Amino acid sequence: MCRSKGRTRTEREAKGEPSSPGVIDPGGMFRFYNMDCIEGCKEHVGDGSVDLIVTDPPYGIEGHTLHKHYNRNEEFVIDGYIEVPAEQYAEFSRAWIAEAERILRPGAAMYVVSGYTHLTDILIALRATSLQEVNHLVWKYNFGVYTTRKYISSHYHILYYTKPGKKSVFNTFSRFGPKEKTPTGGSQNYLDREDVWSINREYKPGQRKNKNELPTQLLTKILQYSSNEGDLVCDLFLGSFSTAKVALGLNRRALGFEKSKTAFDHQIAEIASIRVGALLTDLRVPDRSRAKNQGRPWTDSDKIALAARYKHLSSQSLKKKAIVETLCDEFGRGRFAVAKVLKELDEAGELWSGKQKGAQLEMY
Ligand SMILES: C[S@@+](CC[C@H](N)C(=O)[O-])C[C@H]1O[C@@H](n2cnc3c(N)ncnc32)[C@H](O)[C@@H]1O
Repeated sequence: MCRSKGRTRTEREAKGEPSSPGVIDPGGMFRFYNMDCIEGCKEHVGDGSVDLIVTDPPYGIEGHTLHKHYNRNEEFVIDGYIEVPAEQYAEFSRAWIAEAERILRPGAAMYVVSGYTHLTDILIALRATSLQEVNHLVWKYNFGVYTTRKYISSHYHILYYTKPGKKSVFNTFSRFGPKEKTPTGGSQNYLDREDVWSINREYKPGQRKNKNELPTQLLTKILQYSSNEGDLVCDLFLGSFSTAKVALGLNRRALGFEKSKTAFDHQIAEIASIRVGALLTDLRVPDRSRAKNQGRPWTDSDKIALAARYKHLSSQSLKKKAIVETLCDEFGRGRFAVAKVLKELDEAGELWSGKQKGAQLEMY
C-alpha cells in the first residue's frame, strides 16, 4: 500500500507520486482518494475506464442531524459526514453525474441511491446525460424515519442506469436458476428480480459505523447482477467504504473518493484487513439447469397433449398459477414457453368452448 500526503500537487508530481492524497494498492485491487469526487475523477479517472458505479451521495438534508430523524444513538457513528447545502444540490448533482457519465465505459451500469428530498435534482441531472434508465428500484428498509402525524418513511430510491454503446452486464441467473421455486411454488428468480427490494439495514451494536451505511446484502445483490469478477467498481461517496468492501470481497477491483478526512482515515485502516474474494464462499450456488425440453420446437402432438392436460387440470379447481407450474414440470418447458403456447391454443379455441374463448387470456 502506498500513501501520498502533506505535499503540494506540484511537489508530488515532481516526485512522480499521485497528485492527491490517495491510497493505492500496488497489486491493482484498489485506489482510494481523500478528496472531492468531482475534482478526483478529473484528476485520477480516465474516460470510459469504469465497469460499474454504485454510489450513495450526501442527502442535502443536514446529514449531521440524521440521528434526530432516526431516533438513534450517535455514540458509535463516525464523525465527519460532509453534507451539501440544499441550494447547491442541483448543481452538485449535475457536476458529479457528468463525471460519472464520462468515466463509465460503454455498456457500464450505475446505481444511485437517493432519498426523496433531492430525488428530482438527481433525476434531472441523469436525464441531461446520455445514460439510459433501466429501472427505478425501491429499497424498503427497517428502522424508518419516525413520525406521528404522517406515514413513516421507510424506503430509498435506487436509480439503475446504463451507458449506451455496448451490451451491459446483467447476470440474470447469478442468484437463482430458472427452475428454482419459492416455498409457495413461485419462481425464485422472478421474485429476486422484482423492482421492490426489502432488505434490512445492518444492526451493529457497539461497533463504529458511518451514517447510513448500506447493507452488504444490498450491495452484494447489485454487484452479482451487474458486474463480474475483476471488474472495476467505483463509489464516488465512499462513506464507510461499504461498496468498496463488498467489491473486494467479491473479487472486483475498487475505486472511490471520500471528502471527509476523519471517515477516510478510519476506514482506510479497516480496508487493510479485507481479504479479496472472501465473500465469494458465502454466495449461494444457483441451480442453473434448464427445463429438459427448453428450446426444442413444439410439435402438433405436444400442443394437443398440452391442451388436454390444461383442460383436465382446470377441471380440478387448481389456481391458474399452479396449473402453469405443473405443466412446466410435466412438459419440461419454461414458464414463458408454456404460457405462449397456451395463449395460441386459447386464441384458436382449443382450450375452451366458444363462449369461454378468450376469457382466460389475462392469466398469461
Ligand atoms: C450518504 S454517505 C455514503 C454512505 C456510504 N454509501 C456507506 O455505506 O457508508 C455520503 C458520503 O459522501 C461524503 N461526501 C460528501 N461530499 C463529497 C464529495 N464532494 N466528494 C466525496 N465525498 C463526499 C460524505 O462525507 C459521506 O461520507
